[in-house]
Amino acid sequence: MKRKLLSMVLATAMVATALVGCGSSEEAAAPAEETTTEAAAEEEAPAEDTAAEEAPAEDAAAGGGKVGVAMPTKDLQRWNQDGSNMQAELEAAGYEVDLQYASNDIATQVSQIENMINSGCELLVIASIDGDSLGTVLEQAKEKNIPVIAYDRLIMNSDAVTYYATFDNYMVGTKQGEYIKDQLDLDNAAGPFNIELVTGDPGDNNARYFFGGAMDVLQPYIDEGKLVVKSGQVDFETVATANWATEAAQTRMDGIISANYADGTKLDAVMCSNDSTALGVTNSLEANYTGEWPIITGQDCDIANVKNMIDGKQSMSIFKDTRTLASKVVEMVDAIMQGGEAPVNDTETYDNGTGVIPSFLCEPVFADVNNYKELLIDSGYYTEADLQ
Ligand code: BGC
Repeated sequence: MKRKLLSMVLATAMVATALVGCGSSEEAAAPAEETTTEAAAEEEAPAEDTAAEEAPAEDAAAGGGKVGVAMPTKDLQRWNQDGSNMQAELEAAGYEVDLQYASNDIATQVSQIENMINSGCELLVIASIDGDSLGTVLEQAKEKNIPVIAYDRLIMNSDAVTYYATFDNYMVGTKQGEYIKDQLDLDNAAGPFNIELVTGDPGDNNARYFFGGAMDVLQPYIDEGKLVVKSGQVDFETVATANWATEAAQTRMDGIISANYADGTKLDAVMCSNDSTALGVTNSLEANYTGEWPIITGQDCDIANVKNMIDGKQSMSIFKDTRTLASKVVEMVDAIMQGGEAPVNDTETYDNGTGVIPSFLCEPVFADVNNYKELLIDSGYYTEADLQ
């Protein structure tokens, strides 16, 4: 592994990362529009065909080293942003990048990672599709001493995982739960209020943290009867949504509405763990529900959902600035490639089954119709035109 970076490049990169540090959403590292231009990378293109071919900036070339970046899918807006932000920043810091998307297909992701290992990647950054399916392929990484950073989603039951970088997933859930609690004024209002629950993919470790965080806030009110889940669907497996798919959330909501709310019964809130599921719920409500519009939570500030917030169809979302996470990961990559230790701020929370993985948790930010302009437009994440 080449570990030397020209000091100028390093200094520039460090200033850039400091500016876009975790918890801040102020600075624009890469405009969001660039995220739609990853055309070639999605399918099982061999490693050499990825966008990493472009020559790195002159000075930066001294950084050296090839980094594999494995992303789950292009279907969701955020992963496109994560991938392109990371590619741009890694290249600016002098690394060659092998960026791959796996169409949410586990076998594809495994073979992409295998290619990365065999084609000279010296470090892997992986946002897994299924946290439990990478153990075998990562044994090969471990044999070759290739460090692995789990990106956004923890890779489970593999001792090849060196670091984890994510947003505070539990906090995402508590912010969603607190929002519902505050909006319904659960501590003072008589209620009862009707609520339904929609979370994410059971193979995504994050989903349990999101759901757990929200339920730690909401469960006491369910227990005392102030919140009522009319469908009776409350346990994680039942309220999970395979692949976080909008269509699956919509279909499940169709069934819930026709069985419980078709007679005009008011639905007061739907706790959705992210925006793709919130979109499915919104679509279903628009088609099937005639009562007063419920509170709907979300996460990611996807364009379609921000538009829904502006239109009053979604109440809030959580903004996880992908530029922030990408910058932090580039900082971690740099530290590791230079033979040092990556910055972490949590060494207790995320045990992947082989022990606690040292983590860097970025802070998620509450977003609604009142602050979206400042968060998303003033910071350069979206343009006004994106949201029209
Ligand atoms: C991410 C969320 C995203 C979801 C679906 C989760 O692991 O943390 O931001 O909405 O996956 O892709």
